[in-house]
Amino acid sequence: MYLDTHIHILPGVDDGPVDVGESVEMARVLVDLGWSGAVATPHIRPGFCDEDPEQLRSRARVFSSTLEEQGIALHVLPGAEHYLDSIVYERVLAGRSLPLGGKGSLLLIEAPITHPVPNLAEKVFAMRLKGITPVFAHPERCHVFSDLELASYVVQAGAHLQLNLGSLAGAYGRSSRALARQLLDRGLYSVAATDLHGAKEALDMLGAWVDDLTGAVGPKLRDRLLGENPRRLLEGREAIPLGAA
Ligand SMILES: [Fe+2]
Repeated sequence: MYLDTHIHILPGVDDGPVDVGESVEMARVLVDLGWSGAVATPHIRPGFCDEDPEQLRSRARVFSSTLEEQGIALHVLPGAEHYLDSIVYERVLAGRSLPLGGKGSLLLIEAPITHPVPNLAEKVFAMRLKGITPVFAHPERCHVFSDLELASYVVQAGAHLQLNLGSLAGAYGRSSRALARQLLDRGLYSVAATDLHGAKEALDMLGAWVDDLTGAVGPKLRDRLLGENPRRLLEGREAIPLGAA
């Protein structure tokens, strides 16, 4: 069974589903396609969405109970997608953040899509010194990771790269798709995630996105990226590299 480590599924908190009905619909699609767990990761991005981590924990708990009451077998854990600007970066270093799964060292971090990120390697190093393990959301969509040497360096420094399924399928354009293929070929991803924002996208696209991943890497590595490695990381274990047998 798969475990999603990046999804905007909590109702009315960010640019995800507008109400709980839509959230429940998304959960149904995930379960139908093989997911048994999901970390709800609303945006934390000042000026856009900036809810307190404790509030986000509470929202995830409430939504998980709603699914349980409705008999939908998707276990929802708390998390957040932290935007890498100077404000959030300082909060992260100060420990004011929400780890993936609600505890442990993993922090989902989104680099700016089009802007450069000054001193990314130093930032990763500083986070590692604080005991944080950055998980970079959709690096294939972020300008800074078009530098493949830098991408490789941050992985060696202990960060993880998270493939967005839609990128590989071409949902974000040709250059994101091409970079996703390059990062896959170099074995730099640890996990893959949906980054879904709504029920229509889930219903219309998710099955095809999984098929595209299967076509690109085969069923064994698909299961490693969508199920085995997400679970291992959330349990505090090492991910199995894509190149390993
Ligand atoms: Fe996201």
